Amino acid sequence: MLWRDRPGQVVAGAGANLPHYRKADRVVATEPDPAMRRRLAGRLDRATVLAVVREDRAESLSDPDDTFDAVLSTAVLCTVPDPDRALAEVARVLKPNGRLVVLEHVRGSGRLAEWQDRLDPVWTRIGAGCHANRDTRAAIERAGVTFELFEEFQPVPAWVPTSPMIEAVATRPS
Ligand SMILES: C[S@@+](CC[C@H](N)C(=O)[O-])C[C@H]1O[C@@H](n2cnc3c(N)ncnc32)[C@H](O)[C@@H]1O
Repeated sequence: MLWRDRPGQVVAGAGANLPHYRKADRVVATEPDPAMRRRLAGRLDRATVLAVVREDRAESLSDPDDTFDAVLSTAVLCTVPDPDRALAEVARVLKPNGRLVVLEHVRGSGRLAEWQDRLDPVWTRIGAGCHANRDTRAAIERAGVTFELFEEFQPVPAWVPTSPMIEAVATRPS
């Protein structure tokens, strides 16, 4: 995914998104896991823009209110222990009219959702805390941001627990 905007904050992992920023002045990449942070540090030379690494948990960001023009979250809201709190923090650090951009796998419907619920206790253990059954769309709506783009898609067969996926942009009201 390409992301084009001004200073942003991302939950970083090993830095897969770093080579894809184009117009950001500065990227703050936050990653609480030390092993992931080491991998991230080793990839900073691939960043296309100035990138700073932080240890913050998404539920407790150290930035003041109204700091960022954009926040990017890819494959993170499935894993953070408290997505509502993390999204409240995102809304807090975004400037008015700032944008949250997400690419996440989410809870399916019907039999897929039942399968995700049954699998969840095991899945979180083998997937480093990842939950396959989170209704991330509802969590984003609870944070008080407004979708300007929302697309759900099924990139893999419908039995795959980490599907469907959503690609979305939501704006913090001014
Ligand atoms: C599936 S990885 C995705 C990494 C990266 N965003 C990407 O797209 O490649 C999930 C990441 O969430 C991080 N994570 C887990 N709990 C977190 C929290 N409370 N706050 C911020 N990040 C967290 C993990 O350390 C891990 O790097």
